[in-house]
Amino acid sequence: MSASQSSALYNSKIGLAAGADVAVGRQDQSCRTMLAQLAEQGELLIVDEEIDPVFDLSALLSLTHDTMAVRANRIKGSDMPAFGNLLSDRKRIGMALGVEPATIQDTLLASVKRPVPPVVVENALVQQLDFADGVLARLPVPTFFAKETGPYISAGMMVAVDPETGLGNASYARLKILSPTEALIGIAPNHHLAIMARKAATMGKPLPFAVVLGAHPAIQLAACLYLGLGDDEMHCAGALLGEPVRVTKCLSNDILVPADAEIVLEGFIHADKPIEEGYVSEYHGMYEDYGVGVLATFHRMTRRSDAMFQVIEPGYHAEHIYLGAIPIAASLKAQLARSILNVGEVAVTASGSGRNNVVVQIHNPRPGQARRAMAICWGAVSIIKNITIVDSDVDPWDTEAVELAKSTRMRAERDVLVVTDLPADRSEPQEAGGMVAKIGYDATIRPADRKEGFDKALPPEKSYERMRGVLARARGR
Ligand SMILES: Cc1cc2nc3c(=O)[nH]c(=O)nc-3n(C[C@H](O)[C@H](O)[C@H](O)COP(=O)(O)O)c2cc1C
Repeated sequence: MSASQSSALYNSKIGLAAGADVAVGRQDQSCRTMLAQLAEQGELLIVDEEIDPVFDLSALLSLTHDTMAVRANRIKGSDMPAFGNLLSDRKRIGMALGVEPATIQDTLLASVKRPVPPVVVENALVQQLDFADGVLARLPVPTFFAKETGPYISAGMMVAVDPETGLGNASYARLKILSPTEALIGIAPNHHLAIMARKAATMGKPLPFAVVLGAHPAIQLAACLYLGLGDDEMHCAGALLGEPVRVTKCLSNDILVPADAEIVLEGFIHADKPIEEGYVSEYHGMYEDYGVGVLATFHRMTRRSDAMFQVIEPGYHAEHIYLGAIPIAASLKAQLARSILNVGEVAVTASGSGRNNVVVQIHNPRPGQARRAMAICWGAVSIIKNITIVDSDVDPWDTEAVELAKSTRMRAERDVLVVTDLPADRSEPQEAGGMVAKIGYDATIRPADRKEGFDKALPPEKSYERMRGVLARARGR
């Protein structure tokens, strides 16, 4: 099915005229194609009952986070529908990129190596409507969790331009609504957006930025890649889409935003105006107290005429986990491949909060390579804590297979490496004084360990072949 057909199908399912928002003959660059595909596959739950954005929308998304995408048509106090739970596993992410799960990693890596610059267009769908007052009050922003201190925009992709170099950046950060024009933005100090906002503050001005909701999932995935400062994620998004991202200039600043997105907020980050945040949920499923975030102000909102508000259920919920984990895994693989040419697939597992635990596959590892891979991962991304190295025959995304390798191929006194006092990400659950101990498991085979070898105890392949035939005939009966 073509993108325009899918979008028309989705529109018909939600009561819009077919083609109402679809320019025929070009790829849709919103979430609408994916929503249509999910609807076709019976994986989109449409809720018509009125839902309260205070806790109830969060509870609805939490209950369905790893099974169903959701579109809630009536949110109390708003005329805008909300949707969420799209990229909740590797199958869905593969679907968004148009590839099998097994090739997601190579696809992301190729997008970093061969980026495609965006193209600027006029008459953007995301600028069909334009509002200049009280813009945050126009959105159905949910309050998610019991101990948090306000409603959060959780699916906001932040787009900004480095005030020194003019180079672009896209990433995610949370916004806690403080008033119809003000929010707290919570950005880790080492993230590029935080660096840019501090640069602007040093120059004596706030940083202009845009918050994009509902861009194509490939654009959202690109925004989560760990690139160098100055490498623009929007160019990787173009490679992932197989065509340039169509961008349009914001109405009040020069920032270029995806033209097919649902909603864009235009505003400023004031890095010199700290605000206490209170408890906030993290990917590990608990609360963190980060102290202060900084002020963000908003004076403009543009949107589609039939805009939908995107929500990513935060905390330890599937979309939040996978949207972060898959790009981190690809970024680690890029780092590893520079010095370990026989590195295979790299997984950042859901059971490790989608951030803390990495499994690295190495084909025929040579002595010392497992520990080298551990050192590279710890050095590359501060959030990585527990690392397991496996052989080619172990799928690093298969947690049971990885546990089996650890239980059968490892000698703890030889194959476990604990390094104390490494720098910890501030989100690290066991962080103390900015540090944490990290552990590496070398679960690769050492042939000399077992006189019986490591062959799997299984029937011969010829018998399997015969029995596959028997099974096919029995099932066909
Ligand atoms: C759904 C989601 C929400 C996120 N929220 C935040 C956040 O609130 N603050 C933050 O600093 N990073 C957050 N992140 C992580 C950053 O977006 C991510 O690390 C990004 O790659 C940083 O961009 P940079 O590499 O350009 O610095 C979030 C990631 C995801 C997937």
